[in-house]
Amino acid sequence: MAALLQNHIAAITGAGSGIGRAIAAGFAREGAQVVALDINDKAASETAAEIRAAGGKAQSFALDVTDHTACRTIAAQVRDDVGAISILVNNAGINRRNAFVADADTVVKDWQDITAINLDGVFNVTHAFIAQLRANKGRVINIASIQAFVHVRTPSSVAYTTSKHGVLGFTRALATELGKDGVRVNAIGPGFIETPLNAQVRATNPELVKTFLDHTPLGRAGKPEDLVGPALFLASDLSAYVTGAIVMADGGYRAI
Ligand SMILES: NC(=O)c1ccc[n+]([C@@H]2O[C@H](COP(=O)([O-])OP(=O)(O)OC[C@H]3O[C@@H](n4cnc5c(N)ncnc54)[C@H](O)[C@@H]3O)[C@@H](O)[C@H]2O)c1
Repeated sequence: MAALLQNHIAAITGAGSGIGRAIAAGFAREGAQVVALDINDKAASETAAEIRAAGGKAQSFALDVTDHTACRTIAAQVRDDVGAISILVNNAGINRRNAFVADADTVVKDWQDITAINLDGVFNVTHAFIAQLRANKGRVINIASIQAFVHVRTPSSVAYTTSKHGVLGFTRALATELGKDGVRVNAIGPGFIETPLNAQVRATNPELVKTFLDHTPLGRAGKPEDLVGPALFLASDLSAYVTGAIVMADGGYRAI
C-alpha cells in the first residue's frame, strides 16, 4: 500500500517536543517531507535530525508563532527552500494553571502569553501559509484540547480554556470559508497526554492527575504517539469528506 502522505510537505509548529515531535515523526514515516518549526531551534533541529536518521525527509526552522512578521518570512523561506506545503499542524502551545484570583500580575501575564501562543499563533501561522495551502488543496490540523469544552471536572485555567475554545471556533469558521477551495480544516482534542507540558503537574500534583484519570474510561494517560493516528487520518485522503470537525483523542474523557 502506498504511504498515506507521499508527495506531501507538512509544516508542524511546536515540533521540537511532545505531541508535535511525535506527529512529525509519524508523518515522515508515511512519506511526508516534514518542516519542523519551533521557537526552540535546537529542539526542532533534533526532531528533523531524528527523522533523517530514520530515513525520512525533514528540515527545521526556528519560529516564534507569536511573531506575525516572522511567520510570513518563514512561510516564504519554506516555499523557496522546500516547496509549498500541503499540510499544516498548528500544535505549538503552552499551559499554566494559576487560578483567576491569583496574584494579579501573574494572571495578566498568563492571559497574555497563553492567548498570544495558543490562539494568535494559530492565526499567524495559518495566515502566513494560506496561499500555499489553497494552491495545494491543503489540510490544516489545529491541536485543541478537552478544554475546548468546559467541564466541571476540568481544573481552572481560564486563559487556556478560552484559547482552546478559540482554536475550535477558528477551525469551524475557517473550514466553512475555505471548503470551496478544497482546503480542509479540522481539530484534534487531546486529553491528558504525558509530555513536558504537564511534567511539573505529574511530578507535584498527583491529585490533579488522579482527577483526570478517574474520568478517563481507558484508564491511562495518553502518550504523544496516541495523537499520530488521528493526525494522519485528518492529514490524509482517509478524511477526504471531513472538515470543521474535532477528533477527540482523550481516552474517552468527554464521553462521561
Ligand atoms: N499534553 C497534554 O496533555 C495536552 C492536552 C491537550 C492539548 N495539548 C496541546 O498539545 C499541543 C502540544 O503540547 P505538548 O503537550 O506536546 O507540549 P510540549 O511542551 O511538549 O511542546 C510544545 C512545543 O511548543 C513549542 N513552543 C512554545 N511556544 C512556542 C512559540 N511561541 N512558537 C513556537 N513554538 C513554541 C515549545 O518549544 C515545545 O517544543 C499544545 O497546543 C497543547 O496545548 C496538550
